[in-house]
Amino acid sequence: MFQLLVTLASLARCALSSDVSSPSVLDPPFTFASGAWSLVQQGTSGVSGMQLAIVTETTAVIFDKVEHNPLMTEDGNPAWTAELNLNTHVVRPLHALSNTWCATGSFLGNGTLLSSGGNPIVFLNLGQNGLQALRFFTPCQDGTCDIWENSSVVRTTSPRWYPGSVRIEDGSVIIFGYVLMNNATVSNPSYEFYLPKNINGESIAMKFLFLFVSFNGLKIPSPFLASTLNANLFPFVMELPDGNLFVAANQRAMIFNWKTNTETPLPDIPNGVRFSNPLSGSAVLLPLTPENNYTPEVMICGGSTLLDTADPSTFSSQFPASAQCSRLLLTAEGIAAGWKVEHMPQARVMPDMVLLPDGRVVIVNGAQTGLAAYGTVPDAVGPISNADHPAFTPVVYDPAGAAGRRFSSQGIPASTIPRLYHSTATLTPNGSILLAGSNPNNDITIGTEYPTEYRPHRLEFYSPAYLSKPRPSYKGLPATVNYNSKFTLSVQLPPDTTGVTVALMDLGFATHGSHMDQRFVKLVSKLSPDKRTLTITGPPTSRIYPPGPAFLYVVTAGGVPSFGHKTIVGTGASCDAAR
Ligand SMILES: *[C@@H]1O[C@H](CO)[C@@H](O)[C@H](O)[C@H]1NC(C)=O
Ligand SMILES: *[C@@H]1O[C@H](CO)[C@@H](O)[C@H](O)[C@H]1NC(C)=O
Ligand SMILES: *[C@@H]1O[C@H](CO)[C@@H](O)[C@H](O)[C@H]1NC(C)=O
Ligand SMILES: *[C@@H]1O[C@H](CO)[C@@H](O)[C@H](O)[C@H]1NC(C)=O
Repeated sequence: MFQLLVTLASLARCALSSDVSSPSVLDPPFTFASGAWSLVQQGTSGVSGMQLAIVTETTAVIFDKVEHNPLMTEDGNPAWTAELNLNTHVVRPLHALSNTWCATGSFLGNGTLLSSGGNPIVFLNLGQNGLQALRFFTPCQDGTCDIWENSSVVRTTSPRWYPGSVRIEDGSVIIFGYVLMNNATVSNPSYEFYLPKNINGESIAMKFLFLFVSFNGLKIPSPFLASTLNANLFPFVMELPDGNLFVAANQRAMIFNWKTNTETPLPDIPNGVRFSNPLSGSAVLLPLTPENNYTPEVMICGGSTLLDTADPSTFSSQFPASAQCSRLLLTAEGIAAGWKVEHMPQARVMPDMVLLPDGRVVIVNGAQTGLAAYGTVPDAVGPISNADHPAFTPVVYDPAGAAGRRFSSQGIPASTIPRLYHSTATLTPNGSILLAGSNPNNDITIGTEYPTEYRPHRLEFYSPAYLSKPRPSYKGLPATVNYNSKFTLSVQLPPDTTGVTVALMDLGFATHGSHMDQRFVKLVSKLSPDKRTLTITGPPTSRIYPPGPAFLYVVTAGGVPSFGHKTIVGTGASCDAAR
């Protein structure tokens, strides 16, 4: 009944949603594959799926926190990091030394995954304090790679808990944030780089107070983060095609120039919607294409209108989440026109927004009421979840569709597994969507309404309708793809294919609704008259696609993607020179 009412209410709102004018995302004659989606439960995460990233064509890593996970390391202790084989569904324990609880992750330009920040040890007295951890994982195919960290050799310059991160144009990573809700005394509203940069901080006040001109590779204060308390955990940080960053937290957003340390405010999200943990929404940078001149447009969905400055003891697990999606075109005109508001068919707090190779966005996971985290609202359920009424049905969004008709759940089966706090989702190289985790509990807890999701055969794979169609395939992707370089693939297309498009995708690193680095760049390509050779040009600049790992999907004009093979954009060097 509750669901029905929400659906009816939002249908009424959909009809009123304002027009968002933008060029067709993938250019005509592009269409989407029609038909039913399928859903299978298979595979086990071994550790609860709090953080998830695809690392090779056949493997993903899953990072949790130190807790009583069922997967054991050789010494008989629970693991908290694992590698999942997407074909065999076997999980292998990895050996983080420190607590990965609420760390972030971004790949460096050379393809190594950098996991930053974490938490002190809470349970089990195992491992090390991860607040300043920098962990390195270089993916492999042979089951031998592992996490390396050594805090006496390399660590962040200050504690980082619930940070966001993004890879920038030189292949390094910015780590953004660490602020506790309602606790400004221990907050750290600042950012830093890995590899460190000796830049910024030349304000008069800073000179006066600290007597040095530059931060010398140390943390750099962020007034934006300081002004977005109390709800600014896991800020959304995106690299824009002009080299600036889009940063959003609480209900605010800005353009950030990290080279000059300049913050330029953007309009607030309308209607009092807050979208950062613990009022978590999700965000996505919509596809960048040659047709739209790589003009960035962002969309933020879900969250809550709860007042973050109110006393948390007045919060309720039954407070309706927000169904609002807000889109902003990041041009002078777009910013002047402001955020355009639309409504999802269901309200959602803690959703995940996942880009598909056909240019659409799927919104999954989360709850229709309450908020993130656990054990803080007086009417917690299941037993300590701050959220209730799981949102079981994914909705797919077509950014170029007619206004009011962009959301659809048609043909998409509902899940039966609540995926609430500490759940994740990612696109896989095969084009399916992997859902993992949910743990709105202190430690591993089963046999309750909202148990920890690590159980056997409880990973979920959604196969969009395109996976039931004849698929294109290709060979010949180089190990590295440099900027503006041309390369050719030999392609095998299903009969009747009228044309193809090429999606270069960063599948990102997903945690808490933030999908660090998730990106879709359409590449310029030309199909030979016999339709067997595809000549592709690498991305134009390292700002349009920062150097680092990518999955390349050849997508038919009918919206059916190939398998996404992996390459490294740039040269694969650690920190490419800025272009
Ligand atoms: C970490 O690095 C220090 C300094 O090089 C070294 O003494 C120590 O053995 C290393 N620890 C581990 C666990 O490798
Ligand atoms: C802030 O956090 C510190 C460290 O965890 C704790 O000692 C302090 O009591 C907290 N303050 C508030 C107002 O919650
Ligand atoms: C990839 O998708 C195809 C089509 O759905 C399916 O037959 C195949 O088993 C999938 N492979 C993997 C590794 O998931
Ligand atoms: C990538 O760069 C990082 C930082 O310099 C380094 O620790 C890592 O070993 C490098 N990875 C590869 C594959 O060279």
